[in-house]
Amino acid sequence: MVPGAQVESLRLGFPARVRHAGLGVVRSPCCATSGGCCPCGAFTQGAASQRFGARCTLMNPTIPTSVVQVDWSREAIRSGEWSPGKRLLRSIRDYQRHSGARLTARAARGWAVLRHRFWSAVAGADIPLNCCLGGGLLLPHPNGVVIHPAAQVGPNCLIFQQVTLGTRGRPGAPVIGAHVDIGAGAKVLGPVRIGAHAVVGANAVVLDDVPAHWVAVGNPARVLQRR
Ligand SMILES: CC(C)(COP(=O)(O)OP(=O)(O)OC[C@H]1O[C@@H](n2cnc3c(N)ncnc32)[C@H](O)[C@@H]1OP(=O)(O)O)[C@@H](O)C(=O)NCCC(=O)NCCS
Repeated sequence: MVPGAQVESLRLGFPARVRHAGLGVVRSPCCATSGGCCPCGAFTQGAASQRFGARCTLMNPTIPTSVVQVDWSREAIRSGEWSPGKRLLRSIRDYQRHSGARLTARAARGWAVLRHRFWSAVAGADIPLNCCLGGGLLLPHPNGVVIHPAAQVGPNCLIFQQVTLGTRGRPGAPVIGAHVDIGAGAKVLGPVRIGAHAVVGANAVVLDDVPAHWVAVGNPARVLQRR
């Protein structure tokens, strides 16, 4: 895809532009402990994977840009914009960026924690500070969004209001692939994997894996091929 080209699908109506800048993924505590949180959904070892290096098993020129290229412009806050979702996300990004024991890092983390609490209350969302969230996440209406700390979200995803990414009372949280759109009120529960470019319909309850590019709708969700 050429620089500035439109992400190939505007499935739930939110346009996004791909920028050829900022190849990095945000380091989060889960990335630090598990070795690497590969933005294409493959979890690999070593710092190289975080820069989309050779160990990324899904690295392939045929993969659309939105899978491997984080579009940070989706999280950018325009001046004067009222966007609790973006503010909440920014507090999480700032918290995760400032690691280390230095006084400045600790102060920055403390400030991020305060902002996170404020925007969580405003948004009515429960998204932990140590969540593994790929870059380019859109939270247009963050109210009621609940994400389990062990859940993992790939880059360039879109999560609407009242979405839960959680467990089913036993260990195992969802792993959401790249460029996945999750409709309002959807629940993704347990150790399920949602493939890249999949769409989860409004109010779906997803208990099983969803293949890449497929659509999951209903309760319990059934998967449909994209038209
Ligand atoms: C899932 C979704 C993307 C599917 O859109 P689509 O590709 O145009 O699919 P279609 O409308 O052709 O529907 C395909 C089938 O899925 C069913 N379906 C679609 N959305 C559904 C939903 N949310 N729940 C249950 N079934 C649904 C349709 O009834 C149809 O069933 P059928 O084949 O038995 O007739 C869309 O319906 C959706 O839910 N989008 C979420 C939008 C949202 O959350 N907006 C919030 C804005 S604030």
